[in-house]
Amino acid sequence: MSKNPGFFITLEGIEGSGKTTQADYLFSFLKEANIPCFLTREPGGTPLGDRIRELLLNPKSGVIDPLAETFLFEASRREHIKQIIGPALGEGKVVICVRFTDSTLAYQGYGRRVPLSYLYYLNDITTEGIMPDLTVLLDVEPQVGLSRSFSHTSEEELRFEKEFLVSKEFLWAVRDGYLRLAQEYPERFLVIDTTNRSEEEVFAMIQEVVWQRLRGRG
Ligand SMILES: Nc1ncnc2c1ncn2[C@@H]1O[C@H](COP(=O)(O)OP(=O)(O)OP(=O)(O)O)[C@@H](O)[C@H]1O
Ligand SMILES: [Mg+2]
Repeated sequence: MSKNPGFFITLEGIEGSGKTTQADYLFSFLKEANIPCFLTREPGGTPLGDRIRELLLNPKSGVIDPLAETFLFEASRREHIKQIIGPALGEGKVVICVRFTDSTLAYQGYGRRVPLSYLYYLNDITTEGIMPDLTVLLDVEPQVGLSRSFSHTSEEELRFEKEFLVSKEFLWAVRDGYLRLAQEYPERFLVIDTTNRSEEEVFAMIQEVVWQRLRGRG
């Protein structure tokens, strides 16, 4: 739980699971309900973060050492927390963020085998303990997600997708890692299988839980 007056919602899941789509739906829904909210994403969300995003997602960066990759994600996150997420939560806003610390655990940890203890430590010092109040994990079969993703992502942001084409195991390990995290923190996670659900069906499930939690907060 964050110690802030705001409410912090993250969306997680592999490529093409529907994170951006659902974040947009949720943001519009909260705005219509006159709830102060802010939508952002990782990597990115600040001027430096956006430049780091370009380094991390562009296939031209090629193979990056897993720890170096971790540090780049954490550098982006640090700027994001200090400049954007922390202040917005402090103002009492609902912050919606596509990808956050669980992505690091799933991709660099379960996917690339960076020791989880390093990642928990780095996430902790980066965020100063700011944790999502609710994490929506959009689960999807890797093959389905990948084909959705290729159809809508620009060439400059396909580094992970291209790697997954070569190494399917990596993608399965990431997905499995996410599901393990959800099992470990059941009170924080809402898991939705999106493989055979429409965008609207998925959103109805998110909306119900978000509404409950926000009302519970008073
Ligand atoms: N439940 C769904 N069923 C079918 N198609 C979907 C569903 N959710 C999203 N899509 C479609 O799949 C594509 C990818 O969705 P989206 O961009 O939201 O995924 P993402 O998780 O943000 O992916 P990435 O990690 O690549 O940014 C889009 O074209 C979107 O319209
Ligand atoms: Mg997206």
